Amino acid sequence: MPEPLFLRACWREEVERTPVWLMRQAGRYMRAYREVRRRHSFMELCKNPRLAAEVTLQPVRAFRVDAAIIFSDILLIAECMGARLEYTRAGPKLEPVRTPEGVEALRVPDAGTEMGYLLEAIRLAKQKLGNTPLIGFAGAPFTLASYLIEGGTSRSFMQTKRLMFTSPDTFSELMGKLTSAVAGLLNAQIEAGADALQVFDSWVGCLSPGDYERYVLPHMKRLMRSIDSRGEVPVIHFVNQAGGFLESVSQAGGDVVGVDWRVPIDIAWRRIGYSFGIQGNLDPLALFAPDRELELRVREVLQRAASRPGHIFNLGHGVHRATPERRVRLLVELVRRLSSRSA
Ligand code: CP3
Repeated sequence: MPEPLFLRACWREEVERTPVWLMRQAGRYMRAYREVRRRHSFMELCKNPRLAAEVTLQPVRAFRVDAAIIFSDILLIAECMGARLEYTRAGPKLEPVRTPEGVEALRVPDAGTEMGYLLEAIRLAKQKLGNTPLIGFAGAPFTLASYLIEGGTSRSFMQTKRLMFTSPDTFSELMGKLTSAVAGLLNAQIEAGADALQVFDSWVGCLSPGDYERYVLPHMKRLMRSIDSRGEVPVIHFVNQAGGFLESVSQAGGDVVGVDWRVPIDIAWRRIGYSFGIQGNLDPLALFAPDRELELRVREVLQRAASRPGHIFNLGHGVHRATPERRVRLLVELVRRLSSRSA
């Protein structure tokens, strides 16, 4: 079997067209997902390997994307570490961790046993996927820390920054534990058969460049060094709104950097250097624009990436839940057609 397009692009090999997949490609915007979700809570889905594998395959069947991402959530590791976690209509809720004792009480879990449901879902999804590569993932330590400290999603990151600035040792202790836990989780996913990994640093863009370098980068470097990929499993480092410090992001290591749409992809690529692949970076809300406008925007991303080996087409963040499925289908078709090197 030939090496899949997506993996070849991760390794910056020449490809006949640009591979495409979408962050949050399995989820509520899909009718097939909502159908499964009517009968099971989100947590049940994540913890039932058969259902998680089934949902993982839905966008692959529906849109012919070039990679699947295992159906799970970045916050499940926090639950294994001992934080109470609940998914409500208003989003995820966690029991806040803001004190030295709270951090002390968190455990670094053995992912191999405690997240067995995820690893089993990976094995089942792999069996069903055939030649389509499967991406395993985890939240980056800072993004996870922000959920733990705030107790959920935040706008201002007030509590996170307050802890960072007033108790840097406690903050660093928390980041260290999360780094160890995430490394264990990613290595377990490699062991279970994941073909690539993505680390989501969704909220790191709330930091100044100086604070990223000081409070986050050392942990990201250790995380990347701890991934035991033996050069066989590419690692994608997704950062959202980190246009102010992409050079520092690239210092963490990894193989591909994922960027949002607030930075032109050619400029982002030049700044991280061409020894990295790049993933992105269409505005997810471009999927609400008329066909013609969507096509222009897809063309622009492709033109900026200029068929340079190492581009993986994606959105700059997850698919919005209100997105019509036919728009996602159109997007994938456009990328396939417009990026074809023979055209
Ligand atoms: O297709 C896929 O991408 C696979 C699965 C996946 C989910 N979450 C499923 C999910 C992935 C990769 C994630 C990552 C994730 N989770 C991130 C990083 C990516 C990003 O969007 O920034 C973050 C920050 C989370 C935390 C999280 N989980 C939030 C904020 C929410 C609620 C809001 C929302 O987007 O729905 C969740 C719940 C969640 N995770 C759902 C899904 C499909 C919705 C659950 C439902 O069915 O009600």
